[in-house]
Amino acid sequence: MEFEHKPIMLEECIEFLKIRQDGVYLDGTLGGGGHSSEIAKRLGPKGVLIGIDQDKNAIEAAKNKLLSINSQANIIIKHTNFENIREVLEELKIDSVNGVLLDLGVSSHQLDEGERGFSYQHDAPLDMRMNQDSDFDAQTLVNTWSKDEITRIIREYGEEKWAARIAEFIVRSREVQKISTTGQLVEIIKSAIPAAARREGPHPAKRTFQALRIAVNRELEVLEKLLDTVTDLLSSGGRLVIISFHSLEDRIVKKAFQKQSQGCVCPKDFPKCVCGFEPKLRIITRKPITPSERELEENPRARSAKLRVAEKL
Ligand SMILES: C[S@@+](CC[C@H](N)C(=O)[O-])C[C@H]1O[C@@H](n2cnc3c(N)ncnc32)[C@H](O)[C@@H]1O
Repeated sequence: MEFEHKPIMLEECIEFLKIRQDGVYLDGTLGGGGHSSEIAKRLGPKGVLIGIDQDKNAIEAAKNKLLSINSQANIIIKHTNFENIREVLEELKIDSVNGVLLDLGVSSHQLDEGERGFSYQHDAPLDMRMNQDSDFDAQTLVNTWSKDEITRIIREYGEEKWAARIAEFIVRSREVQKISTTGQLVEIIKSAIPAAARREGPHPAKRTFQALRIAVNRELEVLEKLLDTVTDLLSSGGRLVIISFHSLEDRIVKKAFQKQSQGCVCPKDFPKCVCGFEPKLRIITRKPITPSERELEENPRARSAKLRVAEKL
């Protein structure tokens, strides 16, 4: 299958990264290499591009594409989770980078690969792992987690008001038969949500599928871990460019940028600073950037995208 994924807010990302020919850039979510291709085009022989993805299919698709775009620059591709950014750079003996890009979530390609189990529109094994080597998938989650844990993730990560009923129906049906396909799960979700509520809004399984995917891939946890680590790995003036796709991710990025851009957090009435916090980042986008009308017409999947940028001081 051709790797189909239209890079989101491509021009904006490239502009914000302020790419230098001899700079070192890290794309933590390589996907189809859409953004990375534009980075690669701008690098000279001393430039370095490190592309990371936890999905082997993405790695395979992006590798040849990037090497054919620029055979002079140093292009390094790693199959790992971006939470391991420090280890990746240590292994490459690189102390700091001039820019990091993250375009979070799943790629269109992963959604279109029906057998991966990300989509409620394809009947397939209930998988949802971005990393095919991981030993935890959506099937394990729905068949082994407690009703309360399932309720919590559907409510928190899916912002689904029927979370408790969906979890109850999941637990009831797995007592009769193991839940092993996306099709089974869609039917369970439909039976849990009252007909009147199902008639409005998006597909009834959309929120639950999003929640399970976030939990299976520990998406919020790894993002927090990356944000705790990445600033120290940026060189002065280096930029962090992050596209998120739902409010929970965006909130994590916004909070981390705010925390790292403020200095002292001592109460105002303290005569002198005792916390010793120094600002590390300067926020470049006070408000998140969203895709233009034109981009949304061409690519409806960009609808919920938000771009935030910060610069290392
Ligand atoms: C939205 S796509 C990126 C598309 C890419 N920017 C492009 O233009 O082609 C997200 C990609 O990031 C990968 N990904 C998501 N979270 C990851 C993580 N924590 N570590 C490594 N890769 C991750 C997914 O496997 C997927 O291929």
